[in-house]
Amino acid sequence: MNRKEFFARVGFGAAAVLLPACVAGLATSCSSDGTTSGTTTGVDFTVDVSSGTLATNGGFMVLQGIVIARTLVGDFIAVSASCTHEGTSVNYNSGGNKFVCPNHGAQFSSTGTVTLGPATRNLTKYNTSLSGSTLRIFS
Ligand code: FES
Repeated sequence: MNRKEFFARVGFGAAAVLLPACVAGLATSCSSDGTTSGTTTGVDFTVDVSSGTLATNGGFMVLQGIVIARTLVGDFIAVSASCTHEGTSVNYNSGGNKFVCPNHGAQFSSTGTVTLGPATRNLTKYNTSLSGSTLRIFS
């Protein structure tokens, strides 16, 4: 076997090994339930709120580019997580029932409306629907 043949075989072998893993990785990130990731259109996914930060009033989490929060009275709200100023992920402030950007201090209402700059554009608000302990987030 000459050098060219060796690399041709090794290269093909590596591709044969890696390709299924990549395909499996894609399938996982796309998920089998139709989940989308990081987009502002076609959002429709679910999250179990029986444990973790969303099990407690005032908790929040970021999933698929969306910050999902449980208010102090137990309602669920969801907005795009990326601050419209420079893209930093916003946090939920349960005491003020608002979203706050830790980078330059922009603030948004519970529906994503800008209430304090420097951001000038609203966050995208998403719908939520709770069934048992399954919360659906959708556009
Ligand atoms: S990145 Fe959020 S206020 Fe600047």
